[in-house]
Amino acid sequence: MKNKPMGNRLRTLTEPFKIKMVEPLKVTTEEYRKKALEQAGYNPFLLKSDDVFIDLLTDSGTGAMSDKQWAGMMTGDESYAGSRSWEHLNKVASELTGMPHILPTHQGRAAERILYGILGGKDKIFISNTHFDTTRANIEFTGAVAIDIVYEEAKNPETDLPFKGNINLEELQELVNQYKKENIAAVIITVTNNSSGGQPVSMENVISLRKICDEHQLLLVIDGCRIAENAYFIKHREIGYGHKTYEEIAKEMLRLGDAFIMSAKKDGMVNTGGLLTVRDEKLALKCKNQLIISEGFTTYGGLTGRDMEALAIGLKEVFDEDYLHYRIRSTAYLGEKLKEKGVPVVWPIGGHAVYIDAKKLYSNIPVNEYPGQALVCDLYIKGGIRSVEIGSLMFGKYDGDGTLIPATNELVRLAIPRRVYTQSHIDYVLDVFDDIVEMRNQSKGYHITYEPSFLRHFTARLKKNNTEINLQSANI
Ligand code: F0G
Repeated sequence: MKNKPMGNRLRTLTEPFKIKMVEPLKVTTEEYRKKALEQAGYNPFLLKSDDVFIDLLTDSGTGAMSDKQWAGMMTGDESYAGSRSWEHLNKVASELTGMPHILPTHQGRAAERILYGILGGKDKIFISNTHFDTTRANIEFTGAVAIDIVYEEAKNPETDLPFKGNINLEELQELVNQYKKENIAAVIITVTNNSSGGQPVSMENVISLRKICDEHQLLLVIDGCRIAENAYFIKHREIGYGHKTYEEIAKEMLRLGDAFIMSAKKDGMVNTGGLLTVRDEKLALKCKNQLIISEGFTTYGGLTGRDMEALAIGLKEVFDEDYLHYRIRSTAYLGEKLKEKGVPVVWPIGGHAVYIDAKKLYSNIPVNEYPGQALVCDLYIKGGIRSVEIGSLMFGKYDGDGTLIPATNELVRLAIPRRVYTQSHIDYVLDVFDDIVEMRNQSKGYHITYEPSFLRHFTARLKKNNTEINLQSANI
């Protein structure tokens, strides 16, 4: 990589921007946070954001826009049809994707509902490296089945591989042989692969995937809300891409797809927005009809003119060399330092988040007492840090007797908002982890006192187990 006097020479990880506007953070005490968490039913989704010091719940829509994007907000054209801001977004998105039909949506899941609503239905299957949870929900809502296929070695949080997000091509071939062509609604490649640790997908993997799709006439959808972050990994890890720009790499990958879905709240660098882009005209017409019914006219689709202006600018800014280097390195900084402290993290560190293996860190807490949620709660109480459990609270199911069928892993995600926190904020998070590591054997598990019938992690309420309950279940 090019010598970077700022980013490489100094020990600190210098942010390639300066701060023009500040948003105060409330400093709270541990006592205050204990009460706040109790009131929130030990579920950080139910906390007031004012009571959070460092918010690592998600990187979605939580980023800071640049001065140029804010300037774009002022010049946004709010015309209902044919707005100037739409023309700008249309130009940027078609140059990026190489696709002629660009549909704006209010966020990623609206694009999913439109496309998968048209393609899905009973007797259909969708195949992906890993379906994100809203993707799966939109597919299953149509009566279709969503199948995840990553390589076996990528499921192990410790294996050190450059592209753990790749789709398993051999398994895909088996599925293609097993099912009739007309039953396979689409193959979806999610880049980076959010649900399996924000791990990247190689260009080679997508090229081979394209070949299989061509052979069997299957539709290939790229779910690319982190396409720029993925391009960073390709440039630095895959042979033959070192001399290309991040934008060129992203363009090359998107030209392999038949459709592109993007939650613009990530690499679009905006607080809300989404895109659905399509190559085929007939499919585009169907999508546009759905867009008009539920989102808005084709030249705004649920977005304001100023939103579209900011997105058009964000889609260019995200490929800035200095920004992307800082972005990926600052996430890795947190992950690498945590590893040095003996915190088990999913390895290698992905693009937008650090994932902690809570089953390993809190090995005294059995999975039916949600070790991930225990870590999430401790991080809030000790440091006002908000994170999210990606384990049995999020994905656990019950068998006929009401016994928990646990998730494959008990992870906790620390997602990093774009351009929001400085290195000293991240150093503070690392400091809090010193306490966590020290007290980990005293931590207690949790039980659920209320849960809705689906997507329970958003609104579930929990209580901390007392020592007796903890000891009893530990003996099971
Ligand atoms: N696809 C992927 C890979 C995602 O990560 C997300 C959102 C979506 C689709 C849906 O987009 O939120 O704009 O409707 N991920 C967020 C997260 C919520 O926290 O990882 P959306």
